Amino acid sequence: MTENNPNLSEKSIKTNLSEPLLKEIGSIFIEDSTESTNDNAKEHLKTQKNLFSVHLAEQQTSGRGRNKKKWVSPHGQNIYLSLGWKSSINHSQLEGLSLAVATSLISSLKEFTSSDLKIKWPNDLLINKKKISGILIETTDSKKGLDIVIGIGINVHMDESEGVDIDQSWGNLEEFPSNKLDRNKIIVSIISEMYELFKEYPKSGFKNYLQAFESHNLLKDKLCKVNTDNETLEGKVLGVNEKGELLFENDGEIQHLRYGEVSIREL
Ligand code: BTN
Repeated sequence: MTENNPNLSEKSIKTNLSEPLLKEIGSIFIEDSTESTNDNAKEHLKTQKNLFSVHLAEQQTSGRGRNKKKWVSPHGQNIYLSLGWKSSINHSQLEGLSLAVATSLISSLKEFTSSDLKIKWPNDLLINKKKISGILIETTDSKKGLDIVIGIGINVHMDESEGVDIDQSWGNLEEFPSNKLDRNKIIVSIISEMYELFKEYPKSGFKNYLQAFESHNLLKDKLCKVNTDNETLEGKVLGVNEKGELLFENDGEIQHLRYGEVSIREL
């Protein structure tokens, strides 16, 4: 690694986390190479006592995204972070969680870029219409509530050649290829923001994040095309509701779209 792009370091991350947060997490697990940090978090949750655990890797050999897609995960360039959360939330709060996580992620990344960060519903983060980050949430029922893995992938300094297999327009958080962003500092900011979410979200749900989400909502007021299993609709996105559903106006009717059931793109 170059001086400008240090390795992931537990020490460097822990030094900058608050005391109450450190008490909640115990260890930070960092692998040089792993199949998927989401799998590591899921395995750890089976015996986890702390509120949440942190799993990182320099590289993933089977990184996965939503809709069974592969998540391109080259060594040392990006952030592959999974948080294992022993939550008290119920299934009905899950839909909004994915949007709330995207909103918190925007807050934590803002200080590292001067570009405008946008969210493409439900939870992709984009700069200049190029995807720089994705979130994969996976859950398991446990005796006391829901065990939740929040997997976050962020392209930080990825080279063109390393991203050649990505089938959509992608970008980096780093604005210029100068490798000046220290991933450890970005991770501190994300973990700190997520800790706030773990305390806040079970009480408030998505409601408290809605306004911030809307201010970054890429599709708001845009004409879009929606594909469901059996039809294609054209209409206008009005925003999102408190459940995290997308409000879509089509032929004078307002439809409530749920992610996982539709795909959407701007016209
Ligand atoms: C998406 O499709 O947009 C979601 C991408 C999620 C990628 C992250 S990287 C860390 C964690 N481990 C995985 O295998 N996936 C998530």
